[in-house]
Amino acid sequence: MALAELQERYGAALDDGINLALSALPADLPELSTMVRYPLGLVDEHGDPVAGAGGKRIRPVLLLSCNIAAGGSWEKALPAAVAVELLHNFSLVHDDIQDDSFFRRGRATVWRLWGRSQAINVGDLLFALAFASLQDLRRTGFPPEVCLAAWKSLVESCLELTRGQHLDMRFECRETVSLDSYLSMIHGKSAALLATCAQIGAILAGAAGDTVKQYARFGRNLGVAFQIRDDILGIWGDEGATGKSAATDLASRKKTLPVLYGLEHSEEFKRVYGQPPVAREDVQTLVALLEDLGALEFARAQETHWARAAEEALTAARPSGVAGDSLHALVAELLQRTC
Ligand code: IPE
Ligand code: IPE
Ligand code: MG
Ligand code: MG
Repeated sequence: MALAELQERYGAALDDGINLALSALPADLPELSTMVRYPLGLVDEHGDPVAGAGGKRIRPVLLLSCNIAAGGSWEKALPAAVAVELLHNFSLVHDDIQDDSFFRRGRATVWRLWGRSQAINVGDLLFALAFASLQDLRRTGFPPEVCLAAWKSLVESCLELTRGQHLDMRFECRETVSLDSYLSMIHGKSAALLATCAQIGAILAGAAGDTVKQYARFGRNLGVAFQIRDDILGIWGDEGATGKSAATDLASRKKTLPVLYGLEHSEEFKRVYGQPPVAREDVQTLVALLEDLGALEFARAQETHWARAAEEALTAARPSGVAGDSLHALVAELLQRTC
C-alpha cells in the first residue's frame, strides 16, 4: 500500500503546514473559518473538529515524493505541498458549483451548505492561501529564482485548469467530442496540476532541466490516467467509496471517456444522450448500453496506456532509491483505485 504509507509519512507535517496557512484567516470571523476548514476535512459544518474527512492528498504526496526521488529534502518543500493541496481544494469547491454536485467525500458540498455565493468566496480564499503558502518557500531557504520557477509552474496549471474547466462545461452541450479534444480538456482540468506537483518537486530538489521535464511528463501522464479512472468511477464507482454521487456525470451529459466511446459506437446511445436533460430513468439504460458496447474495457485500456506512459517518463527521470520505488508503486496503486 504505497499511498497509505506515504499519507502516513507526510500526514502530520501536512496537517501542520495547512494549519499554518490557515493562521492567515481573520480571527474574528469564525463562520468564514468553518467554511474554509470544512472542505479541507478539518471540521464539520458547525465548526467542530472531525477526523478522516479530507481527501487522498495525492498531489502533496506526489510533490514530496518526487522531491525526495530527485534528491531534495522534503521538509523544505512542504510549503509547496501545502499550496497544491489548497489549490486542489479550491478547484473542487468551484467544480462542485460548476457541476451542480451535492456530495464530495461523502458530505454535503460547500455550496449546498452555505450557498453558491459563499462557496465561490471560499474557493477564492483557498486559492489565495495556496499562493500565500508558496511564498513560504523563501522562509524554508529557497532562493528567489527557485521560488519564481515553482510559482510559474503553479500559475501555468491554474491557467490550464480554467481552460480545461471551460471545455468540460462547454462539451456538455456538444453532440460529440473527439478523443484529442477530450485529452486536451482533461489535461487542463486535472493532469496539469499533477504535472506541476511532480515538476515543482524536482525543481525544489535542484534537478537539471531535462530531469525536471521528465518529472513533469510523469505527472502529466499520471494525471491523464487518474482522470480517466475518475471518469470510470463516475459511472461504475461505489458511491460509498467515492463519496460522490454516481450518475451525475451522465445526467449532466458530461463527455467522459466511456461516453465518448458510446457516442461513437451506438446510434441509440447518441440519441438518448443527445436529449437534454438526460432523465434520471435514462441513466440506467445508458449504463447498460455502455456495458454492452465495451466502453468500460475501452476506458480501462486507455487508463493503462497512460499509466504506462507515466511509468516510462518516471524511469527516464531516474528517481533515486526508496522514493523512486514508492513512486512506481504509487502508479500501480492508482490504477486500481476505487475512490
Ligand atoms: C478529484 O481528485 C478530482 C479529480 C481531479 C479527478 P481526487 O480524487 O484527488 O480528490 P480527493 O482530494 O482525494 O477527494
Ligand atoms: C476534476 O473535475 C477536475 C477539477 C476538480 C477541476 P471532475 O468534475 O471530473 O471531478 P469530480 O468527479 O467532480 O471530482
Ligand atoms: Mg467538473
Ligand atoms: Mg465534478
